[in-house]
Amino acid sequence: MRLNIAVIPGDGIGPEIVREAKKVLDVTVEQFGHELIYTEVLMGGASIDACGVPLTDEAIETAKAKDAVLMGSIGGDAATSPWYQLPPHLRPEAGLLKLRKSLGLFANLRPAVLYGELKGACPLKEEIIGDGFDMMIMRELTGGLYFGERRTEEVDGLLTAVDTLTYNENEIRRIAKRAFDIAGKRRKKVCSVDKANVLDSSRLWRKIVEEVAKDYPDIMLEHMLVDNCAMQLVKNPGQFDVILTENMFGDILSDEASMVTGSIGMLSSASLNDTKFGLYEPSHGSAPDIAGKDLANPIATILSAAMMLRFTFDLDEEAAAIERAVQQVLTEGWRTADIMSEGCTQVGTRKMGDLIAEFIIKGVGL
Ligand code: IPM
Ligand code: MG
Repeated sequence: MRLNIAVIPGDGIGPEIVREAKKVLDVTVEQFGHELIYTEVLMGGASIDACGVPLTDEAIETAKAKDAVLMGSIGGDAATSPWYQLPPHLRPEAGLLKLRKSLGLFANLRPAVLYGELKGACPLKEEIIGDGFDMMIMRELTGGLYFGERRTEEVDGLLTAVDTLTYNENEIRRIAKRAFDIAGKRRKKVCSVDKANVLDSSRLWRKIVEEVAKDYPDIMLEHMLVDNCAMQLVKNPGQFDVILTENMFGDILSDEASMVTGSIGMLSSASLNDTKFGLYEPSHGSAPDIAGKDLANPIATILSAAMMLRFTFDLDEEAAAIERAVQQVLTEGWRTADIMSEGCTQVGTRKMGDLIAEFIIKGVGL
């Protein structure tokens, strides 16, 4: 198979983690006899520096013409980077939002998994961790507060800002269906999170989710208010399978869920549209403080590349080969600084990529 991929290294640690993900992809496709064609695309601060805007129309067209996008991370330190002196629509994050919207990437999948080997990094007590947890946050990504009308103006002599949270039933229906489909391949539970005791948008959300649920009689549905969900994530994370929620709640809850795993450097994500096209990126940010120091953990990006093979290209065996290699590296005690613990061996970004690539070659050869 020929895989056409747009690659966005981005800012901060982005270029080094993407370099390692490409290394791992390269050995994987070689082992399995595929061909990979990468096309580099600028976005975020890198694009601001080169083109004056965080994402050009040509960059969008280039990405659209490929099968998938593999991304590192974008953005810098808001306190010191000149990118944050620019008006909001010209800052790095605006590029990412524009890309999500232009490619129609409404379904954001963010797995939060506690790896047995990394239990020590989990900030929760042993009795709460129990047998561990493995949840999938399905975040709506192209609606709600992020894309509603907004303005700041003077009203009666007072500066007043307005952001609008809008959802129509179709936007809710399509993400709900995705959540139920994914739950069907997992533990068959959907927890839909909203704020239906206050917001109209949440009441519509709940109504449509209930309608969709009728087509999935084997999936258990529950509703949870977002404030309660934030609490339950630290009280009993093991109760969750698929969490389905709107854009802003999903942004907040997915950070919480990843922190709870203790290893945000391990968590991948996929943003999908109605077709097989997807944008794959780590769940973490650009960590400008450790950029270029060979300290970043490339595993989240490597696992995002595995998600890409599985979701966009249906290459399950190839994806599993990468996931097994990551597992093997952990089992053998190799760790980057963020997940280091006693008795393990600390390695840098590059060495971690080398090890995973080596394990893929060995694994496939067996
Ligand atoms: C995320 C990030 C983005 C978001 C930012 C960078 C705009 O926090 O992907 O979760 O809020 O969606
Ligand atoms: Mg976020």
